[in-house]
Amino acid sequence: MADVRIEIENGLGWVTIDNTPVNALGRAVREGLMEAVTQLEAADIRAAVVTGAGATFVAGADIRELGQPPVPPMLPDVLAAIAASKLPWVAAIGGLALGGGLELAMACHARIAVPSAKLGLPEVNIGIIPGSGGTVRLPRLVPMATAIKLATSGKPISAQEALENGLLDRLSTEDLLAEAAALASDLAAAGRPKPALDRDLVAGDCVDWDAQEAQLRKRSRGAAAPLEALASLKCAASAPVEETLAGERERFLRLAASAEAAALRHVFFAERGAGQALKQAEAAPADLSRVGVIGGGTMGAGIATALLLAGSQVHLIERDTAAAEIARSRVADTIAASVKRGAVTAAKGEAALAALSTGADYAALADCPLVIEAVFEDLDVKRQVFETLGAVMPDDAILATNTSYLDVNVLARTTKDPSRILGLHFFSPAHVMKLLEVVRGEATGARALATGGALAKRLRKIPVVAGVCDGFIGNRIMAAYRRDCEFMLEEGALPQQIDAAMQGFGFAMGIYAVQDMSGLDIAWAQRKARAPHRAPEERYAHIADRLCEAGRLGRKAGKGWYDYATGKAEVDPEVTRIIEEESARAGRSRKVFTEAEIMERILTTMQREGQAVLEEGIAERPGDIDVVLITGYGFPRHKGGPMYMAGITD
Ligand code: NAI
Repeated sequence: MADVRIEIENGLGWVTIDNTPVNALGRAVREGLMEAVTQLEAADIRAAVVTGAGATFVAGADIRELGQPPVPPMLPDVLAAIAASKLPWVAAIGGLALGGGLELAMACHARIAVPSAKLGLPEVNIGIIPGSGGTVRLPRLVPMATAIKLATSGKPISAQEALENGLLDRLSTEDLLAEAAALASDLAAAGRPKPALDRDLVAGDCVDWDAQEAQLRKRSRGAAAPLEALASLKCAASAPVEETLAGERERFLRLAASAEAAALRHVFFAERGAGQALKQAEAAPADLSRVGVIGGGTMGAGIATALLLAGSQVHLIERDTAAAEIARSRVADTIAASVKRGAVTAAKGEAALAALSTGADYAALADCPLVIEAVFEDLDVKRQVFETLGAVMPDDAILATNTSYLDVNVLARTTKDPSRILGLHFFSPAHVMKLLEVVRGEATGARALATGGALAKRLRKIPVVAGVCDGFIGNRIMAAYRRDCEFMLEEGALPQQIDAAMQGFGFAMGIYAVQDMSGLDIAWAQRKARAPHRAPEERYAHIADRLCEAGRLGRKAGKGWYDYATGKAEVDPEVTRIIEEESARAGRSRKVFTEAEIMERILTTMQREGQAVLEEGIAERPGDIDVVLITGYGFPRHKGGPMYMAGITD
């Protein structure tokens, strides 16, 4: 069988899964494994080692098969055959052991991995749970608390953590296959260990299942799979093995056929397919080992942090040396917070900070093949920055702007070669948020685009290509539904009702809580700038302007759409009064909105604006719009995105 190689050497059976790129457990691999069990059982050998070709063990099932009726041999049967083999089976893990890959490893009698391996059950990310005994074997190998974390979060753990928790028997230090052979021989000599399913649950602290469920329900924002994974583990904690296995399979099959799983599969493929133009750009990207950043405020410091943590040297320019020092400490604080959170090691944090230099002299940027500007959102300030860059930078340097709304084409015209200008629109916090809108101006060339793509890859971000318009893809669609939400306020809704409807739908936060968090001033400036161009007959709500005029600029001012005097967002009668006055001024009678009506309006507005964005060629594909809303604006992933919900797909 091409996908699974079976070899016998020195009394050991070697089973190598070779199904690039990630050794997914497709039908041919399952058949190959079944064949391996039969062949090796009949051979005169001591033990078997199963491993993956290349740098991965097995990264999971074949996702394309998941939406289809299952084809035999089923993975649970393959794994049961391995576990029941009279030979000890060892899983030799040289990279990712995820989903079905980890289930396979758990069905073996022992596991060894290289230190860089990652082990996890990411099924919940695509709307399902492990379906081949994963939730039944796992708590027989690791404490229940670890099992809950792995199966409900979908996040993998490191080999070291897996070893400490009992998921691995050994860590390989030098030669994985030689050490796996030694482990297999040891097991053969000592007698085959009990398969996981024949073991007792790992002793550990008593789990408060109700508390776990309440917490998870809140965190999963309406997604079903994490709760089903928890329920399956709970069952594994008390019911007999056979019953739990059957229950897990039932949940798996039901979820695999659910609308939620279909939506999550759509997002999975939309994320991988995003940024087509970058993949097609036929040019070599600029070298990203040294990058210039101009402006070290919220965004500049975040962008610099992202670059430093990805191993680039960064030179950051501020208005003067004092401001440069402040920017340096901002970056240092951000890195320190990442270290504290455990997102990066102390050594990596230290190395990152050592690769940062700061100053106020543009001449120091001359050897940076890419410069990203993140100065104030003011056309004149940015224009001046680009003029200076045009004068000091070599002709082939790529110059990018992080502007939220300004016209990239206007900025491009400040330099003699506009093909090297593009927008790189990061989201805040820039070292955390996964989305990167790569803005293609009318003159942006292939090299600039290829550089945007390479940068996204280096920073492990998801790039989406956007054309030039007010707000690109994300902010433009957000501005549209924010405007319509204000119309709903005029017509009878209140901010807390709209926020509750959005949260009930699965958004991380409602639009008003979001505005208070990021500040109302930038959008206010935007509206003022546009006021002279607004047609007199155009509908315009004045509520947000009135809040801004009253100094209610959001959390930073202690009040915005809500009042923060107590530290928490509280409904403020003053805001209700302003809204009611504005309803009266606009001559609108107030009606009661249900949560369903509110969401219907918001989704329709998103979809209408999304459609316009597509028709104008601002977005490449409908899936890109879904990716932007999900990864940048808190749209619930398990709903698939607004365009997917409207049936508009690639
Ligand atoms: P900020 O006000 O926090 O930082 C701007 C920084 O630029 C300040 O430190 C300022 O001293 C520096 N600066 C101003 N003029 C300069 C010059 N001529 N040379 C060097 N440094 C200069 O602003 P923030 O929020 O970081 O925004 C920066 C840019 O990023 C804006 O274009 C904004 O629209 C955009 N953006 C902001 C997002 C956000 O969530 N805050 C999200 C995405 C984009």
